[in-house]
Amino acid sequence: MKAVYISEPGGPEVLEVREVQAPAAGPGEVLIDVVAAGLNRADVQQRKGFYPPPPGASEIPGLEVSGRIAGFGPGVTKAFSVGDKVVALLAGGGYAQQVAVPAGQVLRIPDGVDLVTAASLPEVAATVYSNLIMTAQLQPGETVLIHGATGGIGTMAIQLAKAVGARVATTAGNAEKVGTAKAFLGADIAINYAEEDFPASLRVQNGGKGADVILDVVGAKYLEQNIDALADYGRLVVIGLQGGARAELDLGQLLRKRAAIIATALRPRPVEEKTVIMNAVRDAVWPMLTDGRIRPLVAKTFPLAQVAAAHAYFDSGDHVGKVLLVM
Ligand SMILES: NC(=O)c1ccc[n+]([C@@H]2O[C@H](COP(=O)([O-])OP(=O)(O)OC[C@H]3O[C@@H](n4cnc5c(N)ncnc54)[C@H](OP(=O)(O)O)[C@@H]3O)[C@@H](O)[C@H]2O)c1
Repeated sequence: MKAVYISEPGGPEVLEVREVQAPAAGPGEVLIDVVAAGLNRADVQQRKGFYPPPPGASEIPGLEVSGRIAGFGPGVTKAFSVGDKVVALLAGGGYAQQVAVPAGQVLRIPDGVDLVTAASLPEVAATVYSNLIMTAQLQPGETVLIHGATGGIGTMAIQLAKAVGARVATTAGNAEKVGTAKAFLGADIAINYAEEDFPASLRVQNGGKGADVILDVVGAKYLEQNIDALADYGRLVVIGLQGGARAELDLGQLLRKRAAIIATALRPRPVEEKTVIMNAVRDAVWPMLTDGRIRPLVAKTFPLAQVAAAHAYFDSGDHVGKVLLVM
């Protein structure tokens, strides 16, 4: 089969399409003929040599795919048939024509979503649902601040938070993206982080109150401002470290607000936890996609042979929503 290999750490040009041996489905695994794979920021970090795959995972990048079931390893009890249209959450191996994955991380595609577009869903839906709803316990009527409005995570997070009845504030890096966040994605408040101090701007636009929940993709660079932006009993959930991993923490400020900081990564979680998350995504998020409360947003698709161009486009940051590779 054809698959993408990282020849050495570096820019998009280090991504090579090679002929490699196809995987076999092990115990409890499903073999998928991949139709499309989603790009994620983690793939870029892996390409640059900063984010090696977890032990036992494929060296091939790619954390999410859509496709058709091609076969089963021993002991799969989930009610799938060969040919079923599915999506899968992966620890790696998605930029390839076939991938083997634990059955618990595989779901049938949601009704009303086409098979290519479905590749945009598993990683962002699982990340956003597990962090905003299962971990931060976001409630209807609460204010959530979502950094990075127009990225893959941001576009899903804004729509999901609106769908559960939260008031949504978000940040983006230029005026055009701020406009998209409000007019197209439905954010109540959108702040240009390049021009405004986001904690102050949030309070001005939110009746003097901070955020009950913050979904953060920046990390160290935003730690102080994020705690400033939290309301009493606020929950800061850090899922990205684009602004570094080490910062000074004012525990007094956290203590006065009775606030919490939580940090999570989906990729290294055990199969059992990913299975619980995927089942929750199927039950809670799939119906929102089917009835249109959430629209999957695909910025652009590229053929597998153009994987380097796909990464260059992703690196430019011009995309709104997800970038996909089509096999
Ligand atoms: N922990 C997990 O389990 C998990 C899972 C999936 C993703 N993630 C993380 O989530 C983040 C987004 O991933 P993605 O695949 O959606 O990537 P993406 O599509 O490239 O989105 C990146 C986003 O980050 C925003 N951003 C960068 N610097 C910012 C800043 N200083 N202030 C506010 N926003 C800023 C960008 O906004 P502008 O373009 O407006 O600058 C962009 O919207 C990454 O950090 C990724 O590692 C974590």
